[in-house]
Amino acid sequence: MKTISIIGMGYVGLPLALRFVEAGCKVFGIDVDESKIEQLLGGKSYIKHIEASRIAESVSKAQFIPTTDFKTVAESEGVIICVPTPLNKNREPDISYVLKTGEAMAPYLQNGTVVCLESTTYPGTTDDELRAVLERGSGKKAGVNFHLAFSPEREDPGNADSVVERIPKVIGGFTPTCLAKAIAIYSIAIQKLVPVSSCRVAEATKLMENIFRSVNIALVNELKIVYGRMGIDIWEVIEAAKTKPFGFMPFYPGPGLGGHCIPIDPFYLTWKAREFGLHTRFIELAGEINTSMPDYVISRVADALNDQGKAIRGSRILIVGLAYKANVDDMRESPSLILIEKLEARGAKVEYNDPYVPIVPHTREHDHLAGRKSQPITAEYDCIVIATAHQDYDGAKIATLGIPIVDSRRLVSPGPNIYQA
Ligand SMILES: NC(=O)c1ccc[n+]([C@@H]2O[C@H](COP(=O)([O-])OP(=O)(O)OC[C@H]3O[C@@H](n4cnc5c(N)ncnc54)[C@H](O)[C@@H]3O)[C@@H](O)[C@H]2O)c1
Repeated sequence: MKTISIIGMGYVGLPLALRFVEAGCKVFGIDVDESKIEQLLGGKSYIKHIEASRIAESVSKAQFIPTTDFKTVAESEGVIICVPTPLNKNREPDISYVLKTGEAMAPYLQNGTVVCLESTTYPGTTDDELRAVLERGSGKKAGVNFHLAFSPEREDPGNADSVVERIPKVIGGFTPTCLAKAIAIYSIAIQKLVPVSSCRVAEATKLMENIFRSVNIALVNELKIVYGRMGIDIWEVIEAAKTKPFGFMPFYPGPGLGGHCIPIDPFYLTWKAREFGLHTRFIELAGEINTSMPDYVISRVADALNDQGKAIRGSRILIVGLAYKANVDDMRESPSLILIEKLEARGAKVEYNDPYVPIVPHTREHDHLAGRKSQPITAEYDCIVIATAHQDYDGAKIATLGIPIVDSRRLVSPGPNIYQA
């Protein structure tokens, strides 16, 4: 039985840990957040799409050992790092969580251990920054005494077909031996690995995947506004275009970008490109268009209220959907939070509904919203804004309330009192 330590028990690390357990490994799940470790030890899940029973069963068999103690690294053949890589307040990469993890684990690093970073980051992080911290703290050399690799996570939260073991996984090593050793570890749990020539290529691959999404989402968001002004329905256009069997892939408009990846990761490359004297114009433009979407939605709220002879100031507005995408409980970077703040700044009384987020948790950037509670969808509001199309929502039923609806997700069929946004 192989022993693996997975550091960071979040959206990426926890499902990966359970996958390694189910593939027959003993897994230490390390996190600095004591409350998460306590919940895991108690067989509880804090991520909606991960069943508590999977955690409870793995913990009771002592095959999954949640802990805050990095000492477990000393008895692990593989160590996989899945900690956050956000942007700082100047929108520059913040790899401090990765470096702190490296510092914490380095003293326990053994000869022959495979260390693999999964956190999304700019090319060079694994070979340069993480390697330096690990070598300094352990007195060992990557590629000589221990093996170093990068393998980005690919997850589609809320998509039931997106199963960890079946998603092909790109992987690059610091040396060819590092790559081979890292593949040997991952092959226990993952069906298909896609080896590339270096950690840098693997890091760049992940960024390209997310930049591709950001740019294409910006494109449909722009077309939504242009076609909307021409009286053409973007959703109908997309449905027609996607019948093309080649050379087209549908992307859908919305109230802005959310989640831990698409609004953030592209700017990791923007920052790194500057070191080479280069600008990433597509990334910047996509960011500009996508971050302007909440303002567009608010302009449609103003239209909807204006048609009723009302102003935003003093109106009661319900945001339907707080999570950044359908059928998940993740509201990090959600445009709904921006909508609430901007509408309140203009004097509206705003509440939200989301069956996946009954209470707003603490967040770094919107902490003043923490503690607010989901409210029922009723006719008491002056306007309803559809921000997330959870499967639990019945658009036709919401339309029967007879109040103006600003719909950024095509949850409700077009009709009178329905404002596409
Ligand atoms: N969520 C996704 O869908 C997704 C998909 C692909 C890639 N990623 C990338 O994976 C990485 C992790 O993302 P996530 O969504 O799992 O984040 P997350 O915030 O859900 O989880 C990260 C965990 O790491 C813990 N942590 C922070 N610092 C630590 C430290 N020094 N030592 C140990 N634990 C520490 C946190 O307490 C948290 O539980 C990020 O780089 C992200 O960009 C995320």
